[in-house]
Amino acid sequence: MADPNGIFAGRFPSTRLRRSRRYEWSRNLAQEHRLSKHDLIWPLFVHDQSTAEPIASMPGIFRWPIADVVRQAQEACSLGIPAIAIFPATPPSHKTDDAREALNPENLVCRCVRAVKKAVGDQLGVICDVALDPYSSHGHDGLVRNGDVANDETVVVLCQQAVVQATAGCDIIAPSDMMDGRVGAIRQALDAHGFQHVMILAYAAKYASAFYGPFRDAVGSAHSLGSANKNSYQMNPANGLESLREVILDIDEGADWVMVKPGLPYLDIVYRVKASLGVPTFVYQVSGEYSMVAFAAQHGLIDRRRGALESLLAMKRAGADGILTYFAPEVANWLAEA
Ligand code: PBG
Repeated sequence: MADPNGIFAGRFPSTRLRRSRRYEWSRNLAQEHRLSKHDLIWPLFVHDQSTAEPIASMPGIFRWPIADVVRQAQEACSLGIPAIAIFPATPPSHKTDDAREALNPENLVCRCVRAVKKAVGDQLGVICDVALDPYSSHGHDGLVRNGDVANDETVVVLCQQAVVQATAGCDIIAPSDMMDGRVGAIRQALDAHGFQHVMILAYAAKYASAFYGPFRDAVGSAHSLGSANKNSYQMNPANGLESLREVILDIDEGADWVMVKPGLPYLDIVYRVKASLGVPTFVYQVSGEYSMVAFAAQHGLIDRRRGALESLLAMKRAGADGILTYFAPEVANWLAEA
């Protein structure tokens, strides 16, 4: 057998792979991948109330008042976490068919971004989703026309939403809507308004996944969406190669970074994107993935810390450059102890 790298040159008993696993120091030396605090992006939920509210479907995760998000942004800075992603839980009274609250410069997410940026400046990256689902009465990421999510009409609104968020001080615009052509249009809109430096992290390969369940509960879009689904815009979980087309299109349209979402069930996609295209590749350990570990740990089935760290390390091994994870602050603390 051809063996240019000499992988098969050694044979038992002269080769014993257990030798390097014997001590912690030798395991450390031979370790191929490492998780670091610099890999972490911390998603935070904000609401327009004066106290924090626990999210039942995500044990340990809360909807926070703006002041608390600011406090946590400061904590992120002291923990060395590079960026946070802010998700608004919009009160139902502010949700409409046309999701117009998305364009209100005084909406919850804009006020939160301004408060965070005022406190932490350029020490911490702030990421905002571009999509209409936090603001739409039907729970879809775009405008609904004749029972369909209208692509091109939605893209026009997404561009305005991106500009509103960039004006509030957002550093990274993250389109999570999966409309065709939105990255290019958003890039143009940002540039036209003088936001050449604002980055785009495209949710490029975003699958129509059951694992978003707890998130939709957290931002209150589950109720709006009801029994509808997002299959006409989010990717079919059965497709692998198509993710490369999505990523290539987004990069071509001006995305700085791309994301695969969810994480653990889609590590093959992370691997393919990174190995074949070599672009900065991010992965989202989504709410359902978080809650599976959190609930299993609550029931004593798996160790929370080991379960979380192993999942995240697996994402690094697959090729992820950075990971959005609700475990972010805990992980930063665990890594600092280690
Ligand atoms: C909104 C959005 C979703 C998530 C991030 N942005 C939900 C969805 O597409 O329905 C999911 C994040 C998570 O589950 O943690 N477009």
